[in-house]
Amino acid sequence: MVLQLQQRHSAGLAPSPAVSGRWTGPSRGPQTGSATMLLLHRAVALGLRQTCRLKSTHSRLCIQACSTNDSSQHQCPSLAFSTDNSSTRGWRVMGTLLGLGAVLAYHDRRCRAAQKSPHIYTREEVKSHSSPETRIWVTLGSEVFDVTEFVDLHPGGPSKLMLAAGGPLEPFWALYAVHNQSHIREILAQYKIGELSPEDKMPSTLKTSDPYADDPIRHPALKVNSQRPFNAEPPPELLTETYITPNPIFFTRNHLPVPNLDPDTYRLHIVGPPGRKPLSLSLDDLHQFPKHEITVTLQCAGNRRSEMSQLKEVRGLEWRTGAISTARWAGARLCDVLAKAGHQLCETEAHVCFEGLDSDPTGTAYGASIPLARALDPEAEVLLAYEMNGQPLPRDHGFPVRVVVPGVVGARHVKWLGKVSVEPEESHSHWQRRDYKGFCPSVDWDSVDFDSSPSIQELPVQSAITEPKDGGMVEAGEVTVKGYAWSGGGRAVIRVDVSLDGGLTWQVAELDREEQRPRKAWAWRLWQLQAPVPPGKKELNIVCKAVDDSYNVQPDTVAPIWNLRGVLSNAWHRVHVRVAS
Ligand code: MTE
Repeated sequence: MVLQLQQRHSAGLAPSPAVSGRWTGPSRGPQTGSATMLLLHRAVALGLRQTCRLKSTHSRLCIQACSTNDSSQHQCPSLAFSTDNSSTRGWRVMGTLLGLGAVLAYHDRRCRAAQKSPHIYTREEVKSHSSPETRIWVTLGSEVFDVTEFVDLHPGGPSKLMLAAGGPLEPFWALYAVHNQSHIREILAQYKIGELSPEDKMPSTLKTSDPYADDPIRHPALKVNSQRPFNAEPPPELLTETYITPNPIFFTRNHLPVPNLDPDTYRLHIVGPPGRKPLSLSLDDLHQFPKHEITVTLQCAGNRRSEMSQLKEVRGLEWRTGAISTARWAGARLCDVLAKAGHQLCETEAHVCFEGLDSDPTGTAYGASIPLARALDPEAEVLLAYEMNGQPLPRDHGFPVRVVVPGVVGARHVKWLGKVSVEPEESHSHWQRRDYKGFCPSVDWDSVDFDSSPSIQELPVQSAITEPKDGGMVEAGEVTVKGYAWSGGGRAVIRVDVSLDGGLTWQVAELDREEQRPRKAWAWRLWQLQAPVPPGKKELNIVCKAVDDSYNVQPDTVAPIWNLRGVLSNAWHRVHVRVAS
């Protein structure tokens, strides 16, 4: 049996996974056409779900959504049935669709009634509607929408819309500006169920006694690992959506409250060598140095720690695969600023120490250091960055100035930079000496000697799968696997191997075509593999591993690299999915 849905307008949007073919928005013409189209979309989507339940080996229903630009065609969808030997089943499906249509028409009338004398909801109420069981509500401005039936029709895929479930749409629409079109607002209007209560129209004010009260407002897509201090990662399905991570969803790793610094009075102190006066640089002074711009991936040493803690308890935040992001950074080169202060490479053992302007109640600031040789090497491209993706640094990422050390663990990229000095020893900061170090798997908190291990600088080769989701479902036929790969020290990723059978057999993924400079491959590579699902498979154990240009590879399991702080977690990444039957 073939059911064809024909419609006239194309919104130029990506295909919906709910319907094979191209989903198009409702007519931009008269409202009535729009409502009818929408109703039919809903009926078809629900009918499809129903039909999947009815499906037997003898009868199959295919739904094709065709779009055409032929304006002479009928405005409303035409439904054409052709039956196989199961005409009864055809009528059942038809009945299901009509029945659902009636229910939805009722719902539609209810929505219209709600628009006339809107029901009032609090943000808390909206928040409690964030799953299919409780129904899925979102807000836009002061309006509340029940989008439960639209989720499967969302052109970007249901999972993307679910990120906004129970909250405002604006932060997502700001990321994906394609939504800001009148016909998309028209679609949404059909799902309106009420208004926000007057006091909830404005974001709630924060309590001032809280040291974190002045922290910036964050993007709701971020998966929060700790609220105070704020630590959060983008969800995997957004992480590799774009090569450059948009600022609002760049992972955030803070140890302390975010300082609120005035760019007009900001000063960066550069301690000179003995006998030379220190430099005190304003933001304008920094802008006088040649501006240098590079794309750099930042990864926290704790990325993928949650996989280590599954094996045995570790101390630290439960980062999944998202403590990594990529941005285009711009600023002055540290080597130029150090040279201006009078520093040169005299002592190869010396270190450049950085101090942040964030501090704990005792006044202790965040600090870290890198070897002087790296800081002074123009090829290492260490930056005092004041721009991130063409914008002034966001507050969470170090406004107004942070260090960016390409190829090196995130902990050394000191944010809200206040002071730079050259010292004979590494920074004495807790985060340089008592954290961010690797140990033998047998070392525990009774036996650990932090002085025995060097601080982490360059990170090992890493990769992870971002799609499909672990525990999810994939269609039979073909599977698309996506992810990222990166290596420390400017080593380029030369290959990503993907297995669908837990590592028994492998296929080579396709890498993006972004430029990789020799020994300066500071940014990740996004990769993807499209592969047939072996016939008859009920589940897939998808695995990825990357190889860098020194032929370093990731270890196959976590056990040999487990350490008590859960850092340097880079074993093969594994995702288990079921195959839809
Ligand atoms: N700098 C300061 N001043 N304070 C911090 O807490 N966190 C560090 C580093 N620089 C930190 C800091 C750590 S551990 C990491 S992984 C990176 O910042 C994270 O940078 P991001 O929040 O911009 O992603």
